[in-house]
Amino acid sequence: MEKITFQINDREVEARPGWTVLETAREYGIEIPTLCFHEAVLPSGACRLCMVEIKDGDWSKLVASCIYPAAKGINVYTETERVSNVRRWIFEMLLAQVPASPEIADLAARYGVTRTRFPVKDPEEMCMLCGLCQRVCEEVVGLSAISTVDRGVHKRVGAPFLRPSDVCVACGCCVNICPTGAMRALFDSIRGETKTTLTQLTA
Ligand code: SF4
Ligand code: SF4
Ligand code: FES
Repeated sequence: MEKITFQINDREVEARPGWTVLETAREYGIEIPTLCFHEAVLPSGACRLCMVEIKDGDWSKLVASCIYPAAKGINVYTETERVSNVRRWIFEMLLAQVPASPEIADLAARYGVTRTRFPVKDPEEMCMLCGLCQRVCEEVVGLSAISTVDRGVHKRVGAPFLRPSDVCVACGCCVNICPTGAMRALFDSIRGETKTTLTQLTA
Protein backbone atom coordinates (compact mmCIF):
# COMPACT_ATOMS: atom_id res chain seq x y z
CA MET A 1 0.00 0.00 0.00
CA GLU A 2 1.27 3.45 -0.86
CA LYS A 3 2.64 5.38 2.08
CA ILE A 4 1.63 8.96 2.88
CA THR A 5 4.56 11.33 3.16
CA PHE A 6 4.37 14.54 5.15
CA GLN A 7 6.39 16.58 7.66
CA ILE A 8 6.34 16.71 11.44
CA ASN A 9 8.55 19.41 12.94
CA ASP A 10 10.29 19.77 9.57
CA ARG A 11 11.14 16.09 9.53
CA GLU A 12 9.87 13.87 6.74
CA VAL A 13 7.66 11.05 8.00
CA GLU A 14 5.66 8.29 6.37
CA ALA A 15 2.23 7.07 7.43
CA ARG A 16 0.21 4.11 6.36
CA PRO A 17 -3.19 4.85 4.82
CA GLY A 18 -5.70 5.36 7.61
CA TRP A 19 -3.17 6.53 10.18
CA THR A 20 -3.73 9.73 12.11
CA VAL A 21 -1.13 12.41 12.75
CA LEU A 22 -0.80 11.14 16.32
CA GLU A 23 -0.17 7.54 15.26
CA THR A 24 2.49 8.73 12.83
CA ALA A 25 4.15 10.93 15.44
CA ARG A 26 4.29 8.01 17.87
CA GLU A 27 5.80 5.78 15.22
CA TYR A 28 8.68 8.27 15.01
CA GLY A 29 8.99 8.81 18.75
CA ILE A 30 7.65 12.37 18.59
CA GLU A 31 5.90 13.17 21.85
CA ILE A 32 2.38 14.58 21.89
CA PRO A 33 0.49 14.51 25.20
CA THR A 34 -2.87 12.71 25.20
CA LEU A 35 -5.54 11.83 27.72
CA CYS A 36 -8.69 10.58 26.04
CA PHE A 37 -6.79 8.54 23.46
CA HIS A 38 -5.97 4.84 23.80
CA GLU A 39 -4.97 2.41 21.05
CA ALA A 40 -7.54 -0.12 22.28
CA VAL A 41 -10.58 2.01 21.46
CA LEU A 42 -11.75 4.35 18.74
CA PRO A 43 -10.55 7.94 19.20
CA SER A 44 -13.12 10.48 20.34
CA GLY A 45 -11.27 13.80 20.28
CA ALA A 46 -12.76 14.67 23.65
CA CYS A 47 -9.93 16.25 25.64
CA ARG A 48 -8.14 18.30 22.92
CA LEU A 49 -4.82 17.89 24.72
CA CYS A 50 -3.21 16.38 21.63
CA MET A 51 -3.52 19.60 19.62
CA VAL A 52 -0.86 20.29 17.00
CA GLU A 53 -0.49 23.11 14.48
CA ILE A 54 -0.72 22.60 10.76
CA LYS A 55 0.97 25.34 8.74
CA ASP A 56 0.93 26.28 5.10
CA GLY A 57 2.78 29.52 4.43
CA ASP A 58 1.10 32.26 6.49
CA TRP A 59 -1.94 30.10 7.14
CA SER A 60 -2.18 27.74 10.10
CA LYS A 61 -4.74 25.88 12.17
CA LEU A 62 -4.83 23.82 15.34
CA VAL A 63 -6.16 20.28 15.10
CA ALA A 64 -6.58 17.35 17.46
CA SER A 65 -3.87 14.96 16.26
CA CYS A 66 -5.63 11.81 17.51
CA ILE A 67 -8.47 12.28 15.04
CA TYR A 68 -6.71 14.22 12.25
CA PRO A 69 -5.83 11.94 9.34
CA ALA A 70 -2.31 11.88 7.99
CA ALA A 71 -2.35 13.56 4.57
CA LYS A 72 0.23 13.96 1.86
CA GLY A 73 2.33 17.12 2.05
CA ILE A 74 0.95 18.64 5.28
CA ASN A 75 3.35 20.39 7.65
CA VAL A 76 2.66 19.53 11.28
CA TYR A 77 4.27 21.21 14.28
CA THR A 78 3.97 19.85 17.78
CA GLU A 79 5.78 22.51 19.83
CA THR A 80 4.80 25.97 18.54
CA GLU A 81 3.73 28.91 20.67
CA ARG A 82 0.07 28.35 19.73
CA VAL A 83 0.32 24.68 20.70
CA SER A 84 1.97 25.56 24.02
CA ASN A 85 -0.71 28.13 24.78
CA VAL A 86 -3.60 25.79 24.08
CA ARG A 87 -1.94 22.99 26.07
CA ARG A 88 -1.46 25.31 29.04
CA TRP A 89 -5.09 26.38 28.80
CA ILE A 90 -6.30 22.77 28.72
CA PHE A 91 -4.07 21.75 31.61
CA GLU A 92 -5.32 24.66 33.67
CA MET A 93 -8.92 23.68 32.96
CA LEU A 94 -8.15 20.10 33.94
CA LEU A 95 -6.45 21.16 37.17
CA ALA A 96 -9.68 22.97 38.06
CA GLN A 97 -11.94 20.17 36.84
CA VAL A 98 -10.14 17.22 38.46
CA PRO A 99 -8.02 18.70 41.26
CA ALA A 100 -7.86 15.36 43.14
CA SER A 101 -6.17 13.49 40.30
CA PRO A 102 -2.42 12.98 40.92
CA GLU A 103 -2.03 11.69 37.36
CA ILE A 104 -3.31 14.93 35.86
CA ALA A 105 -1.24 17.04 38.26
CA ASP A 106 1.90 15.08 37.30
CA LEU A 107 1.27 15.35 33.59
CA ALA A 108 0.50 19.06 33.80
CA ALA A 109 3.67 19.63 35.84
CA ARG A 110 5.70 17.84 33.17
CA TYR A 111 4.51 20.57 30.81
CA GLY A 112 5.24 23.31 33.32
CA VAL A 113 1.67 23.88 34.53
CA THR A 114 1.25 23.71 38.30
CA ARG A 115 -1.58 26.20 38.90
CA THR A 116 -4.92 27.10 37.48
CA ARG A 117 -6.65 30.43 37.09
CA PHE A 118 -10.03 28.67 36.87
CA PRO A 119 -12.29 28.10 39.87
CA VAL A 120 -12.29 24.64 41.45
CA LYS A 121 -15.85 23.37 41.86
CA ASP A 122 -15.17 20.11 43.67
CA PRO A 123 -11.77 19.54 45.36
CA GLU A 124 -12.50 15.77 45.49
CA GLU A 125 -13.25 15.36 41.80
CA MET A 126 -11.06 12.93 39.82
CA CYS A 127 -13.17 12.15 36.76
CA MET A 128 -12.62 14.33 33.70
CA LEU A 129 -15.48 12.64 31.79
CA CYS A 130 -13.21 11.52 28.97
CA GLY A 131 -15.39 8.48 28.34
CA LEU A 132 -12.50 6.01 27.99
CA CYS A 133 -13.92 3.68 30.66
CA GLN A 134 -17.26 3.55 28.92
CA ARG A 135 -15.69 2.99 25.50
CA VAL A 136 -13.38 0.19 26.64
CA CYS A 137 -16.24 -1.56 28.39
CA GLU A 138 -18.34 -1.38 25.27
CA GLU A 139 -15.76 -1.79 22.48
CA VAL A 140 -13.26 -4.18 24.07
CA VAL A 141 -15.10 -6.06 26.81
CA GLY A 142 -18.32 -6.10 24.82
CA LEU A 143 -20.48 -4.86 27.67
CA SER A 144 -22.14 -1.60 28.54
CA ALA A 145 -21.78 -1.75 32.28
CA ILE A 146 -20.98 1.95 32.59
CA SER A 147 -22.22 5.04 30.88
CA THR A 148 -22.34 8.77 31.30
CA VAL A 149 -25.48 9.85 33.05
CA ASP A 150 -27.19 13.22 33.39
CA ARG A 151 -26.22 16.27 31.39
CA GLY A 152 -24.27 19.48 31.64
CA VAL A 153 -22.73 20.20 35.04
CA HIS A 154 -24.45 17.12 36.51
CA LYS A 155 -22.92 14.75 33.94
CA ARG A 156 -20.98 11.89 35.51
CA VAL A 157 -19.90 8.32 34.93
CA GLY A 158 -22.02 5.59 36.42
CA ALA A 159 -24.00 2.44 35.85
CA PRO A 160 -26.84 2.78 33.37
CA PHE A 161 -29.64 4.74 35.04
CA LEU A 162 -27.60 4.61 38.27
CA ARG A 163 -29.16 1.29 39.17
CA PRO A 164 -27.41 -1.85 40.42
CA SER A 165 -26.53 -4.20 37.62
CA ASP A 166 -24.91 -7.60 37.29
CA VAL A 167 -23.59 -6.72 33.86
CA CYS A 168 -20.11 -5.79 35.16
CA VAL A 169 -17.71 -8.72 35.27
CA ALA A 170 -15.11 -6.79 37.29
CA CYS A 171 -12.47 -7.29 34.57
CA GLY A 172 -10.67 -4.08 35.52
CA CYS A 173 -10.25 -2.79 31.96
CA CYS A 174 -11.90 0.50 32.85
CA VAL A 175 -9.56 0.90 35.82
CA ASN A 176 -6.48 0.31 33.72
CA ILE A 177 -7.50 2.66 30.95
CA CYS A 178 -8.67 5.55 33.15
CA PRO A 179 -6.10 8.37 32.76
CA THR A 180 -6.95 10.20 35.98
CA GLY A 181 -7.11 7.45 38.59
CA ALA A 182 -10.84 8.03 39.10
CA MET A 183 -11.78 4.42 38.38
CA ARG A 184 -9.01 3.07 40.61
CA ALA A 185 -10.22 5.26 43.44
CA LEU A 186 -13.71 3.93 42.96
CA PHE A 187 -12.57 0.31 43.01
CA ASP A 188 -10.22 0.92 45.97
CA SER A 189 -13.10 2.36 47.93
CA ILE A 190 -14.84 -1.02 47.90
CA ARG A 191 -11.84 -3.31 48.35
CA GLY A 192 -12.61 -5.91 50.96
CA GLU A 193 -16.33 -5.55 50.63
CA THR A 194 -18.53 -8.29 49.32
CA LYS A 195 -19.90 -6.15 46.55
CA THR A 196 -17.07 -6.05 44.07
CA THR A 197 -18.60 -4.82 40.88
CA LEU A 198 -18.34 -1.31 39.72
CA THR A 199 -21.97 -1.08 38.78
CA GLN A 200 -23.09 -2.08 42.23
CA LEU A 201 -20.89 0.67 43.61
CA THR A 202 -22.48 3.35 41.57
CA ALA A 203 -25.97 2.37 42.55
S1 SF4 B 1 -14.80 -3.76 35.28
FE1 SF4 B 1 -16.99 -3.80 34.73
S2 SF4 B 1 -17.44 -1.71 34.09
FE2 SF4 B 1 -15.17 -1.96 34.04
S3 SF4 B 1 -14.69 -2.59 31.92
FE3 SF4 B 1 -14.91 -4.45 33.13
S4 SF4 B 1 -17.08 -5.02 32.85
FE4 SF4 B 1 -16.90 -2.88 32.22
S1 SF4 C 1 -13.66 7.47 35.21
FE1 SF4 C 1 -11.70 7.82 34.20
S2 SF4 C 1 -11.89 6.89 32.17
FE2 SF4 C 1 -13.96 7.14 32.99
S3 SF4 C 1 -14.66 9.10 32.19
FE3 SF4 C 1 -13.79 9.47 34.22
S4 SF4 C 1 -11.67 10.03 33.82
FE4 SF4 C 1 -12.42 9.05 31.95
S1 FES D 1 -6.08 12.76 23.05
FE1 FES D 1 -6.76 13.72 21.24
S2 FES D 1 -8.51 14.80 21.90
FE2 FES D 1 -7.90 13.72 23.68
